[in-house]
Amino acid sequence: MKVIVGTKEEVVRKAAQRYVELLNRKPEAVLGLATGSTPLDLYAELARLCAEGKLSFAKAKSFNLDEYIGLEGTHDQSYRYFMDHNLFEHIDIRPENTHVPSGFVKDDAEAELYDAEIAAAGGVDLQLLGIGNNGHIGFNEPLTPFTSLTHIVKLTESTREANKRFFNSIDEVPTHAVTMGIHTVMLAKSIILMAFGTGKAEIIKATVEGRPTISVPASLLQLHEDVEVYLDHDAASLLS
Ligand code: F6R
Repeated sequence: MKVIVGTKEEVVRKAAQRYVELLNRKPEAVLGLATGSTPLDLYAELARLCAEGKLSFAKAKSFNLDEYIGLEGTHDQSYRYFMDHNLFEHIDIRPENTHVPSGFVKDDAEAELYDAEIAAAGGVDLQLLGIGNNGHIGFNEPLTPFTSLTHIVKLTESTREANKRFFNSIDEVPTHAVTMGIHTVMLAKSIILMAFGTGKAEIIKATVEGRPTISVPASLLQLHEDVEVYLDHDAASLLS
């Protein structure tokens, strides 16, 4: 793992340059994308570079990590809605080239078709990841098998509780989500993991310096040959 530390602004600018290099070299690149608060500044920077003509997504394809089960893309808490509003509407990607897992798959066999779609597009060139406080990547919580493909997960009560602030009541918070699996993520040619703030410092230490274990899903990224970890000084503060 290559670790890049700086102010949030600095590392966001550096990460954005990865997209400039990749899309200049390979305009039809396949991008793996994430939701959450972590990628927001990067998405704003990509939109800015696109508006300035330094970056084009016109031929690119994207595949998002995850989606809630049962939420239409028009629901303001769906990850499709998040992506449309925070990135896709601000860059020149073609809407038909953007993919978010369907929140209406009925079982894992249907969910796995997403892996086939990614493979048919040529595989992910650059996968962007945030990290949960417990080391989850996508919705792959601790102990998710290393071999997992895109699958349905039952959300823990603590995750539902944490997300209830975005809904009218806990009853409206979805009980399940669909997520790329660990294996799906590991198939990406290159991976960027980003984390900001002291709240992520402990899990970043376990991810970067601990031994790889399914108890900390992100630590398994040590087994991938091309991973860059972009951290602000707070998230990096416990690294030796
Ligand atoms: C988002 C995702 C999650 C988040 C993680 C961190 O698509 O799959 O794994 O990356 O929960 O969330 P934030 O960025 O909000 O701290």
